[in-house]
Amino acid sequence: MRKNIVAGNWKMNKTFPEAQELMFQLLEYKKHNTVNCEIAVAPPTLYLLMARNVFDAEDIKVMAQDMSAHSSGAYTGEISAEMLLSVHADGSIIGHSERRLYHGETDENCALKIKAALDNGLTPIYCNGENLDQRKAGQHLEVVKLQTETALFGLTADEIKKVVIAYEPVWAIGTGETATPEQAQEIHKFIRSFIAGKYGDEVADEISILYGGSVKPDNAKEIFAQPDVDGGLIGGAALDIADFSKIIEAFN
Ligand code: PGA
Repeated sequence: MRKNIVAGNWKMNKTFPEAQELMFQLLEYKKHNTVNCEIAVAPPTLYLLMARNVFDAEDIKVMAQDMSAHSSGAYTGEISAEMLLSVHADGSIIGHSERRLYHGETDENCALKIKAALDNGLTPIYCNGENLDQRKAGQHLEVVKLQTETALFGLTADEIKKVVIAYEPVWAIGTGETATPEQAQEIHKFIRSFIAGKYGDEVADEISILYGGSVKPDNAKEIFAQPDVDGGLIGGAALDIADFSKIIEAFN
């Protein structure tokens, strides 16, 4: 059965001491509260090792924000799945819209990264979602369908079951604008049915599909209550323990 997950994407925020403080706050929170979902954090790469030292994998999952499709070699600035595995990271976000926008990430490349992650036993959190123009033109389902197909449909049924999908409408990321619970449910259900069409209901039912885009303490409960929404990928609100913990509590 699929898991409920609340994952924090810290993006390019926090100095080392600030990151350390937030990790310890989160660890304390997890120790002293009832938590009914899996928690994951994706700090900047530089802090992954510290995160792994602070968090046991059973407690809090540690994810990278991106990774290379290559295993090693002359790729300045990149990190490989093997490297992530060697510091005991649990997985990586792949295909975030900011990687697509500022770094030319494509679905074809995401497909290679997802395969490299899975081959190394890492969990990929694959992000997709339409931009504002595509939403206004009513193309959102078509866009997400193509992204899903290109990045994921080369996988076997056993492989795709291990992928976490994060639907993140680009127009809702960091803008304070959120998809309504109904808009989120529409797309999440659509993604799940599309996967079911190729791999069957049983496989599609195992895949956690998270919503991302301005999830805050005051809207998380309503969004997560949708039948096909299995949690959230949280940006801004993951940087503050009070906000992030309230979002985790949306599952209580
Ligand atoms: P946001 O970011 O919560 O700040 O909108 C979400 C994301 O980019 O994953």
